[in-house]
Amino acid sequence: MAHPPLRYSIPLTLALVILTTGALLLTGAVRVVRVPGPVAAVEGTIQLPAPRLEGEVSVEEAIASRRSIRSYANSPLTLQELSQLLWAAQGITDPARGFRSAPSAGATYPLTVFAAVSEGGVLGLEPGIYEYLPEHHALRLVRRGDFSQELAEAALGQAWVREAPVCLVIAADYSRTTRVYGERGVRYVHMEAGHVGENIYLQATAMDLGMVAVGAFHDGDVAEILRVELSPLYIFPVGRVGP
Ligand SMILES: Cc1cc2nc3c(=O)[nH]c(=O)nc-3n(C[C@H](O)[C@H](O)[C@H](O)COP(=O)(O)O)c2cc1C
Repeated sequence: MAHPPLRYSIPLTLALVILTTGALLLTGAVRVVRVPGPVAAVEGTIQLPAPRLEGEVSVEEAIASRRSIRSYANSPLTLQELSQLLWAAQGITDPARGFRSAPSAGATYPLTVFAAVSEGGVLGLEPGIYEYLPEHHALRLVRRGDFSQELAEAALGQAWVREAPVCLVIAADYSRTTRVYGERGVRYVHMEAGHVGENIYLQATAMDLGMVAVGAFHDGDVAEILRVELSPLYIFPVGRVGP
């Protein structure tokens, strides 16, 4: 038997799909799953303001003007600015799959970002070490206090680590990636730290903030300051471009 002409089959198919889906929903055979957004509040954490998804600086302009800046004004960052930097580093950009702003080998996500906030470093935040929770776009206070002096000492006395209002620190759990890729996972983790670092650089540049990547530090001392079992890979002092 000949098939009905196409102009009849499309509405018919649509009607069938709608009817079948409705029947499955009514019988409970299919549940509507709501994917949690990245800004759901969690008890005991500090909710960050939602990141902006549009800016005034193009990616080309940010790449062209990115520079390492080591001198900062004595001026705090806003929570919105910190939110934006953390989102650029590891924010969830695909809530359905939990994928983040920076690529990750096999989506294993071995990196955690911490913010070491100095006294008066971020408006509305007490000084301390905070862990960024990408799933909730929130902060968890790890330690109260201003650790800028200790962090600078751990970084061989680099003054910009002490003077920045905020230092973002990236630390890795290698096992998350090596359990999938074996020893090769170690290099993947380092590559991923580079992706995250460049995201932060470009976002800071687009917001007219200054920062520098710091790789010279004593790993054990930084881990102790953060109170983590993870391996610190990078420190990024960030602040307003200074005198
Ligand atoms: C892996 C790595 C480690 C770095 N470590 C430090 C550091 O410990 N201290 C510092 O002041 N700059 C550090 N830098 C920044 C470089 O000195 C800087 O990128 C370089 O001078 C080029 O300048 P630009 O970033 O403005 O292009 C590091 C950069 C990278 C990529």
